[in-house]
Amino acid sequence: MSAMDVKPFKLKDIKTVLSWVKSCDAMLQWSGPIFTWPLTHMQFRKHLALAKVDDPRLFPFGLYDKNKILGYCEISDYRKMHEYASISRVIISPRHRNKGYGQYMIKEMLRMGFYKMSLNRISLGTFDFNTAAIKCYQKTGFKPEGTLRQSIKAGKSYWNCRIMSILKSEWQKSKSV
Ligand SMILES: CC(C)(COP(=O)(O)OP(=O)(O)OC[C@H]1O[C@@H](n2cnc3c(N)ncnc32)[C@H](O)[C@@H]1OP(=O)(O)O)[C@@H](O)C(=O)NCCC(=O)NCCS
Repeated sequence: MSAMDVKPFKLKDIKTVLSWVKSCDAMLQWSGPIFTWPLTHMQFRKHLALAKVDDPRLFPFGLYDKNKILGYCEISDYRKMHEYASISRVIISPRHRNKGYGQYMIKEMLRMGFYKMSLNRISLGTFDFNTAAIKCYQKTGFKPEGTLRQSIKAGKSYWNCRIMSILKSEWQKSKSV
């Protein structure tokens, strides 16, 4: 795990990340309502272009083992003035799930957010059935804040989104114990 690195996402890896998202439900679970199915290279590139504007709110990252991408996630909705951002679109390659890579990537993102970007609060949302994600976030220090009921429609069902967050003071405390 120590040879692993969270680095700015490289456009050459779009195809690999998209290959991990194999259905409309998987896309919604990963990314919420921002894309339409089928998710194309062009849609994802357009989304990533938001990272290239002046004063960006989006910072895409990859989890890399040397040059091989194993995971993807974003710091999004960055509000410098309020020292706030979200972590979004977290995904680990299907072959590498349930081995601690997600927790490693999230811990690196927290270090990035609290230490390098001087954030005070980081939040995220995950659907209430996504046990792996909820456990991954709980184990990295996120606390539940509440539920957005029936926040998106997937086929004929509505999915509830669980909001979680961590504050800089909590993160610092967890590092000192
Ligand atoms: C969510 C996701 C990023 C987590 O990454 P990961 O590398 O699998 O996560 P980790 O292995 O670090 O942690 C997951 C934990 O949940 C546990 N877990 C997984 N499925 C579980 C289940 N059905 N019931 C109980 N625990 C479960 C794992 O055992 C692990 O806990 P442990 O450290 O105590 O063993 C990954 O599963 C993924 O890419 N999912 C698809 C995309 C997605 O849903 N993204 C989240 C959007 S909010």
